[in-house]
Amino acid sequence: MNVPSRVSLNAKDLQLQEVSVTRKMSASLPKLRAAAEANGLPIHHLGAGYPHPEVTDPRGFIAHQNAYFEHLAAAEGNNDPAALPEFLREAYAYTDTLGPRQTREVFADVYGSDWQVTIDPDRLIPTVGATGGISLVCALFERPGVPLAYITDAPTYAGFLVRSVLTQSSQIFSVDMDSEGPIPEQFRAQILAARAAGFFVPFYYTVPDGHNPAGISFSTQRRLDILAIARELGVLILEDAPYIYIDYNDERPKPFLALDPMQTVHLFTGSKIGLPGPRIGFIYSDALLEIADQQQVPIADLLLTESSSDILFQNPAALRGFEGLLHKQDDAGVFQQRESLWEVAAKKLVVYRENRELLLDGLQEGLGDWPDEFHWTVPEAGFFSVFTFLRPDITTDDAFIEKLVAQYGVVVIPMYGFYPEDAKDRDPRAGMNQLRISFCFTESAGAARREDMRTAVAAFCDAIRSITGKQAKR
Ligand SMILES: Cc1ncc(COP(=O)(O)O)c(C=O)c1O
Repeated sequence: MNVPSRVSLNAKDLQLQEVSVTRKMSASLPKLRAAAEANGLPIHHLGAGYPHPEVTDPRGFIAHQNAYFEHLAAAEGNNDPAALPEFLREAYAYTDTLGPRQTREVFADVYGSDWQVTIDPDRLIPTVGATGGISLVCALFERPGVPLAYITDAPTYAGFLVRSVLTQSSQIFSVDMDSEGPIPEQFRAQILAARAAGFFVPFYYTVPDGHNPAGISFSTQRRLDILAIARELGVLILEDAPYIYIDYNDERPKPFLALDPMQTVHLFTGSKIGLPGPRIGFIYSDALLEIADQQQVPIADLLLTESSSDILFQNPAALRGFEGLLHKQDDAGVFQQRESLWEVAAKKLVVYRENRELLLDGLQEGLGDWPDEFHWTVPEAGFFSVFTFLRPDITTDDAFIEKLVAQYGVVVIPMYGFYPEDAKDRDPRAGMNQLRISFCFTESAGAARREDMRTAVAAFCDAIRSITGKQAKR
């Protein structure tokens, strides 16, 4: 008898996708790097969106966490030094889907005070980073099996692009952006078009502060205009806020969460303010949803049910470690709750602010003489600037990216992959004249970091001048 060595399932009708666009892009990099190195070129990192190693050294975080854990043990007041502290037992045991209550209480307090919004710790659901939050909300709305239309920006975050259309009955209706955010009339039109085509429209996903990849923050007026339409048409705003503390302004626009917590589902992540590895995140909303029998229920209750059927158990030790970050030690070594997460952000902002300035100054110096040919966004928050070729004969396709790496050692990300399909239908050249430049990552620290950043920007400008046939004027 012929026994197959593996089970073979005929799944062609499922239209399963093999690899995501983003993974494909990162998979091709090592080969390109090797080509650059073979040409004797150093690699200039202007592509990766990772937090900088200089501000994510885990050793300081671990030392602080250990001290905080000792503080928690001491606070239990057990006189027997050999006894297992209760918090520690719980930190490594199965826990509730909501995770430790104290972590949520402290976070609700600190974050609520930073953004002037009242956060109910009972509605604060831990997620596996913002990625887990995106997945949780999508899963909630996918459950009934009706065709869904997600409204999002063109361009939009690659992680959302990939997750949102995981279910083949879901589709993206995208909204083009200008320098202030999504265009309100098109936002309205896309919601109405999706409904007219028979879709249920649960939410609009966006990144209003330090948009990844668009390299802008939305103006306050634009937030208000979008919010007014979302309210009028009954669409939630899914606000992804990884860069809310990586902000270079003194005056910051309010997040949608603060403008209207009943219209917003907010995603917090610990990845940029802390470390990405522990996968800390929270989802929060005061929104009510009308479900069967015209019942109104908090979306938080539905999300919690969804979460308990998905990950079920949180990682309590990681959440307690994050709770440590929400505390500081005074000069006498006594722990107290922080007044603000801006205290933590301040140290990171030193590095990102410097890198951002080096990028903007370098671009101005290297390419600023041709304002009719090159444009770049001035990011008010986040890690990215979008560079646009204003002349029509440059196409930033894969071949262009490969040339930048192999001939100049410069790694940047092409923008076309961040545009949803419908945006490409509207404009087949969407993103085909744009690059995403990131200024968050180098392999070095301190003065060497600054030098690496400066050199990388200069190499980028040299490459662009050379490709477009320009002579440096100074
Ligand atoms: C807009 C956006 N959302 C989500 C994420 C992923 O965040 P997390 O590590 O919290 O899953 C990123 C990371 O770069 C991001 O830029």
